[in-house]
Amino acid sequence: MSEYFRTQYEKCYEGDEYYWGTEPASFLDDLLSAVNRDPSEVSVLDIGCGEGKDAVYMAGKGCRVTAFDLTESGIRKTKKLAENVGVNVNAFVADINDFETDEKFDIVYSTGTIQYLFEENIAPFFEKISKITNIGGIVYFNVFVDKTFLELPPDWDKEEKMWKTGALFTYFGNWKIHMIKESIFEDNSGGVKHYHCMDSVMAERV
Ligand SMILES: C[S@@+](CC[C@H](N)C(=O)[O-])C[C@H]1O[C@@H](n2cnc3c(N)ncnc32)[C@H](O)[C@@H]1O
Repeated sequence: MSEYFRTQYEKCYEGDEYYWGTEPASFLDDLLSAVNRDPSEVSVLDIGCGEGKDAVYMAGKGCRVTAFDLTESGIRKTKKLAENVGVNVNAFVADINDFETDEKFDIVYSTGTIQYLFEENIAPFFEKISKITNIGGIVYFNVFVDKTFLELPPDWDKEEKMWKTGALFTYFGNWKIHMIKESIFEDNSGGVKHYHCMDSVMAERV
């Protein structure tokens, strides 16, 4: 009988190679600058951390980093990368749909993951984000957006849901917006060239 996983990434992350590489996302330095405090005083939550490249980068900058992902294999790789680099990341398996934390953070971010939220969990998720972000804290989220002229990416998971253009921005009415953007870009993940449309927001809790 074949094993069932809710996300294909459980398998993708199993090998020694880093599926997403180990180079951090380009927006992380903007996040750190926006918080405008010494990184040693900054707590970070990475939601859907994959194999940990971004979490490890933020820890390397001196931040106190908490990170979770649905995949055991991703969390194992995150811990391994942290160990190799010589930093500490509090990494664990959890589901974006029902994760719990008593902590508050100065930076909360999630890249390529919130499309795994079930419809009924989207509004409660952003309420939770508001509660767990310190005043003056910065959040960054991006989400894949449906465009009729783009094909569904070949590595699309069955539990992923494309969002509508602009839907992400509606959850930040009471936040100070630092950046809002929609872009279309080429991707070669899985070895097949394809295109994504993505909405992104960076906002400050005031
Ligand atoms: C496109 S990858 C992005 C990974 C990472 N943020 C990065 O940029 O390298 C999407 C991630 O969402 C994770 N994921 C899928 N469903 C999830 C869920 N229900 N809760 C938490 N993470 C989930 C996957 O395991 C995968 O690591």
